[in-house]
Amino acid sequence: MSTGPAILIVDDERTLARAIRAYLTEAGYLAEVADDAEAALALLPALRPDVIVTDVRLPGMTGIDLLRKVREFDPGIATVVMTAHGTIEGAVEAIKLGAFDYLKKPLDLEELKLMVDRARQAGAREQELSYYRTRAVRDLPFADLIGRSPAMQAVLERARHIAALDETPPVLITGETGTGKGLIARTIHTSGARGNQPFIDVNCTALPGSLMEAELFGYERGAFTDAKESKLGLFEAAEGGFIFLDEIGDVELALQGKLLKAIEERVVRRVGGVRDRKIDVRILAATNRDLEQESARDRFRRDLYFRLAVILLRLPPLRERGDDVLLLAEHYLQRFAAKYGRDVRRLHPESRAQLLAYAWPGNVRELSHVMERAVLWARGGEVTPAELGLPDAGRRPSGALEPLVRTGEMAVSLGDTGERRLPVEPAGERPTLEAVERSLLEQALRETGGNQTRAAQRLGISRDTLRYRMKKHGLGG
Ligand SMILES: Nc1ncnc2c1ncn2[C@@H]1O[C@H](COP(=O)(O)OP(=O)(O)OP(=O)(O)O)[C@@H](O)[C@H]1O
Ligand SMILES: [Mg+2]
Repeated sequence: MSTGPAILIVDDERTLARAIRAYLTEAGYLAEVADDAEAALALLPALRPDVIVTDVRLPGMTGIDLLRKVREFDPGIATVVMTAHGTIEGAVEAIKLGAFDYLKKPLDLEELKLMVDRARQAGAREQELSYYRTRAVRDLPFADLIGRSPAMQAVLERARHIAALDETPPVLITGETGTGKGLIARTIHTSGARGNQPFIDVNCTALPGSLMEAELFGYERGAFTDAKESKLGLFEAAEGGFIFLDEIGDVELALQGKLLKAIEERVVRRVGGVRDRKIDVRILAATNRDLEQESARDRFRRDLYFRLAVILLRLPPLRERGDDVLLLAEHYLQRFAAKYGRDVRRLHPESRAQLLAYAWPGNVRELSHVMERAVLWARGGEVTPAELGLPDAGRRPSGALEPLVRTGEMAVSLGDTGERRLPVEPAGERPTLEAVERSLLEQALRETGGNQTRAAQRLGISRDTLRYRMKKHGLGG
């Protein structure tokens, strides 16, 4: 039994197909030949090929239709198409259908073998991805958005509406950090007709502009020094499904124009390419910045903002959701109690009052952290205020409608080292809790030479908590 990867070659030119088989067998592959698409399909269940190399033009069912059937059978099988010189159309269609790449005839067998290797690796990745995708769908209680407050009901109603439409302009999801922008984007995807199509999540902060462009739009071979081969961009990879441009406010101005073109004209052009490729992709974008303001200051293109903001989904901060705080707290209480096998069931009435009074600058994410910690610390079946450990400083004075802490401001003030004091306590002689906390953070960071992991250990908190608190105090990381 060969243990090498299994390759299925589909071509009615028998001499060629056999030559490929001999070459690949020699190289340690398990290679099989089929004369036409029907024969190939019949072989699938037994052979379970890693890669299929097929001619586009076949007697009977075409190579393109074969690709469709193969995808239905198992999207993890990588496919490569072969086209006779000069007929590129079939290849383009094949790529759109998810083929890994195409080869031009006459074939170079060494080139074919290299491509099969790459396709197989990509196929393995795809298999992992589809595993994550189905797993995400199965974890649906997670995706269930909790919220009965009128503010949330209005948002959910809109989101359901958006999910039900198959064709919509882009949707811009706004809201402070941790309000559930990512969650609602994924829910729109999974609950709509394109739920089984790709959902490509792009964090726009992660890469500098030039790399981002190559990631989003792909590139052609030779576009730059390292481009030894052409690469599909994320827009093309999202074909038929969604692309989620998270933190879109961080996209560099130079790239914003290209994004606008992709959105308006529904085409992308690879870096170094000469041809526009049509795409059928729904666009979701999210930001925790005020893009309207940024565009007024020329930090974000106005035309792109207006294009994106046609449909706006604004997630209210947690402090504007009334009793949803308690609903969510109880949800997390149950979840973490089950996760850690702890018999914690209730919230002390005073804890409930504190949860309602707190300003939640980190919103639902912060609440989940607070509840996780509380479940771990709780000594009895009821979580006491001490076990919640909410900082006093974030509390809203009764009657105040304006939140004291706005995450937007915190994000903007990153790197600003000026003392930030919340107006909750008058600045008197005695140091505020804020000031003490800040100096503890500074001390720990100083003593560990800025190493966040070690500083967090020293303070007995998680790295996330440290980061959150550094951000809160405007201590740049
Ligand atoms: N209404 C909700 N019901 C249940 N869970 C929620 C809800 N809103 C948010 N969450 C959970 O809170 C966490 C933070 O949500 P998410 O990551 O979607 O926020 P975000 O707005 O994208 O934050 P950021 O701006 O920092 O990226 C996630 O674990 C998410 O599942
Ligand atoms: Mg997010």
